[in-house]
Amino acid sequence: MAVLVTGGAGYIGSHVVRLLVERGDDVLVVDDFSTGIENRVEGLPLVSLDLAAPDAEDRLVAAIEEHSVDSIIHFAAKKQVGESVERPLLYYRQNIGGLTNVLGAAERTGIESLVFSSSAATYGMPDVEMVAEDLDCRPINPYGETKLIGEWMIDNAITAAKMRGDTFKAVKLRYFNVAGAGWPELADTAVMNLIPIVLERVAAGKAPIVFGNDYDTPDGTCIRDYVHVKDLAEAHIASLDYMKSDDEPAETVFNVGTGKGASVKEVIDAIAEATDREIVPEMGERRAGDPPALVADVSRISAQLSWKAEFGLEEIVRSAVDAAGMSPTSK
Ligand code: WQD
Repeated sequence: MAVLVTGGAGYIGSHVVRLLVERGDDVLVVDDFSTGIENRVEGLPLVSLDLAAPDAEDRLVAAIEEHSVDSIIHFAAKKQVGESVERPLLYYRQNIGGLTNVLGAAERTGIESLVFSSSAATYGMPDVEMVAEDLDCRPINPYGETKLIGEWMIDNAITAAKMRGDTFKAVKLRYFNVAGAGWPELADTAVMNLIPIVLERVAAGKAPIVFGNDYDTPDGTCIRDYVHVKDLAEAHIASLDYMKSDDEPAETVFNVGTGKGASVKEVIDAIAEATDREIVPEMGERRAGDPPALVADVSRISAQLSWKAEFGLEEIVRSAVDAAGMSPTSK
């Protein structure tokens, strides 16, 4: 039996594919290569497919049958918050449309388990620093909405499968701030988030910009929960195993973070340390929609999946710096 990984050529997907292959699982990758990179999944069975295309469900069914797939990890989606505000329909079409086809194919082929990439963006602007899964979700952008709607669609698919007497289990993982690289060649090539942005600016001889230093936090800059992509990838493996071993999963939604926050200043300091450079950031304006602090309560995932992040900020930053060829030894 094989695991189908949609978006398997992406940054996070390729880390999960690597772990699955390492442990001897058969893997089928589906990716439209809009942002995925083929080199990351070299030598693996591959279907090039836009999951929102009109024929996507039928093509998925054919691929699932041909490769004897019994579980799916669904990453393929658009994930840029700003773009989602400018082009909401693109996000609804790709993220909701794509998941509709995945769930349709899963139902037609009797797939037994699904892991879904959700996001801390489902929470919106919570007024607590530490967020647990049962907090009210109030996403503040179309991207976060598509992830929350995705969770509802999956819950409804579980209910419908139960009514039909089918086995269908799912786990939804709400990622916090994913960063770092488990293998240099799988590093994040998009420059969308704090660590890659700072690295790019430093490499270009520019000062990184801190989006606001007047927040009600110890050093005035925003606090986030940075989780190593390899730890996150392990959480997917733990989720697959959880669905195999447990008849009826006790929980289906889990935060994936470290439970520890780091401020923007602390991240920049860690980058200065790992690159052995002096970095003097520029203080900029606050960015709209940024909660002052967002840290995962990880008690549920640790209790249910026995998963815990192994790496901290220093290792996350060091792996990103190494992958970017910016460590002092690679100068
Ligand atoms: C981190 C912190 C910025 C750039 C986003 C999505 C979220 C999830 C992860 C997918 C913030 C600050 C950033 C810069 C800065 N994505 N910053 N200077 O916004 O926490 O989360 O990515 O699921 O849904 O919203 O991540 O990396 O953009 O920012 O000061 O040049 O760094 O203000 O406090 P964010 P980020």
